[in-house]
Amino acid sequence: MLSVVSILFIAFVLLLAAMVILPVFFGAPWHPLSDENIERIINFADLQPGEKFYDLGSGDGRVLIGATREKCVRGTGVEIDPIKVWLSRIFVTAAELTDKVQIHRGNIYDFDVSEADIIYLYLTHQALDQLFPEILDRMKPSARIVCYRFCIRNMEPIKVNEDKNLFLYRVDKGRSVNEYS
Ligand SMILES: C[S@@+](CC[C@H](N)C(=O)[O-])C[C@H]1O[C@@H](n2cnc3c(N)ncnc32)[C@H](O)[C@@H]1O
Repeated sequence: MLSVVSILFIAFVLLLAAMVILPVFFGAPWHPLSDENIERIINFADLQPGEKFYDLGSGDGRVLIGATREKCVRGTGVEIDPIKVWLSRIFVTAAELTDKVQIHRGNIYDFDVSEADIIYLYLTHQALDQLFPEILDRMKPSARIVCYRFCIRNMEPIKVNEDKNLFLYRVDKGRSVNEYS
């Protein structure tokens, strides 16, 4: 007979596996970021107070929370995994940012991005290839895109960090093949 502790342990392991493995089939796995990396991303994005900051595949919501807290933006996240949606909403509530950060359960491929001033993406090349260039037609021409680790193929970044793992794009700039593909 399995004890209650064993059942809880197995449930915990299955939950963790579901959070990490299932998203792979939808486009990108989950990889929680260190506080240092979140800080780096927020500073690189050059966010302005009042801007609408979107995180497509928002994970645990910590990038949205950090950006909203530090740069006074309004955050919107979309996440396919209901467990991460639930977890990130708890984090948003704990940070007392429910009036500034919204997390939606949904799919990045059909999410309304027409209001976004800046979109942050930490997705694999395969997921980015499915999003681009189609998503550009649904975004404001003045909007910016920040990619972490994976660049957008066939789009020229307007800024790249020293480590070459952060890429900034503008929707209204050219779409030519870049050297980081
Ligand atoms: C690498 S994580 C990035 C999480 C967060 N943006 C960050 O930087 O910490 C990618 C996230 O995208 C989510 N995801 C993958 N495919 C998705 C889809 N089609 N729609 C919505 N979310 C998706 C995964 O569940 C995962 O949480």
